[in-house]
Amino acid sequence: MTELTQNPAIGSAATDDSNAGHPMWSSRLAFILAASGSAVGLGNIWKFPYITGENGGGAFVLVYLLCIALIGIPIMVAEVAIGRRGGRSPINSMRQLAARDGLSKRWVWIGGMGMIASFLILSFYSVIGGWALSYVGNSAGGLFVGASSDSIGALFGNLLSDPYTLLLWHSVFMVLVIMIVARGVSSGMEKAINILMPILFGLLLVMVGYAMSTDSFAAGFQFLFTPDFSKLTTEGVLTALGHAFFTLSLGMGVMMAYGSYLPKNVSIVKTAFTVSILDTAVALLAGLAIFPLVFANGMEAGAGPGLIFQTLPIAFGQMPGGVFFGTLFFILLVVAAVTSAISLLEPVVEWFEEQKGISRRKGALIGGLSIWALGITTILSLNEWSGFHPLGMFERFEGKTIFDLLDYVTANLMMPLGGLFIALFVGWFMSKQAAENELSIGNGFAFKLFMFILRFITPAAVLVVFVYNLM
Ligand code: PFF
Repeated sequence: MTELTQNPAIGSAATDDSNAGHPMWSSRLAFILAASGSAVGLGNIWKFPYITGENGGGAFVLVYLLCIALIGIPIMVAEVAIGRRGGRSPINSMRQLAARDGLSKRWVWIGGMGMIASFLILSFYSVIGGWALSYVGNSAGGLFVGASSDSIGALFGNLLSDPYTLLLWHSVFMVLVIMIVARGVSSGMEKAINILMPILFGLLLVMVGYAMSTDSFAAGFQFLFTPDFSKLTTEGVLTALGHAFFTLSLGMGVMMAYGSYLPKNVSIVKTAFTVSILDTAVALLAGLAIFPLVFANGMEAGAGPGLIFQTLPIAFGQMPGGVFFGTLFFILLVVAAVTSAISLLEPVVEWFEEQKGISRRKGALIGGLSIWALGITTILSLNEWSGFHPLGMFERFEGKTIFDLLDYVTANLMMPLGGLFIALFVGWFMSKQAAENELSIGNGFAFKLFMFILRFITPAAVLVVFVYNLM
């Protein structure tokens, strides 16, 4: 097992060509696996379908896809490029690059804000990961077999109303994540992702196949892909933008950290496209598996965060081999969630190591336990504190629980803001030569187009969505 001191999500360390002592990914594939492991997670399978349902379907999906193409992919390229050029943890990569080009030290705040966002996101991410864990047991125990949509709804309702059960699963999830990060992710983890991701993909295809066998597949398909702009609000556009960042793990330094291990001869542009397309495909497949079931069972598309937990079990309860497929599905969902969660704990642990000289083990424990404690506020938001809306006096935050606020502030504000600064940094501040070197697509049309998007389109899009929402 290879253990690393900064970012552990690496298999075998190959030779280093820029930063002495800083290990490198064993191959382009290794990077793609780790980056996809971070990107593909609850965001794709849990969050994408439910926010699509809440925001009326097609038009929202279209805006989301535009955000991925015009904002997400360019920012991923920029973020990985900063990481590879800096060759260190996000905060120190920013410090290094800013110093090299004679820029303000304040750029390190991109790394700092990302670390805070990681901390906040993981606190609720782990609670949802806990839901998935508890559903492994539900499925294996045959609880879905022949169950009506009402009883499946009740099963989920019971879980949410019980803070102790939620706490138990949230704790199990966090312990798993802390243990992996404390040890440093082994090459075994890389191999596991390599095998499990394709299985998850295949299983989603099986689920889509099942959805096709219901008579509501056309309705589900239409809901996802026929835009009805009358259903799209400005808030919906902000949600789509925020989700593009969330689902690709952008704007907070995670991709920067991963990029710092990328060998110089690997194309960042190609790699960013691969990861983004894979991530988007998983989300769309999840949507195609879920919405036909929603309509076939007369359920509410806007049912909220419980959507997948209230729809997929119906399918598992009816299809042949459903206990097996259902159990496998929730196990894979947990794995996808864990590989994302480790990329969220990592920046916190790195910061402890670099700034406080605290060992990886201790850092993972202290960071993980603090995040676990904050997660309790999300658990209580689902039951005892569901009527507690701390910022309810502002119209924008009306009816939002602590859980809703954590999600909103990180995905809709902090991540796009981080991404905006990353785009500005590479587009306007980092030397053009440096950008050319990192992108290595020459300095012809493709490069000029990319820089144009990064300098103008990406920042303008983020700003326009922000300003509209503030008004
Ligand atoms: N991209 C992950 C998902 O879609 O589930 C969530 C996530 C991971 C967000 C890592 C941010 C991050 F830095």
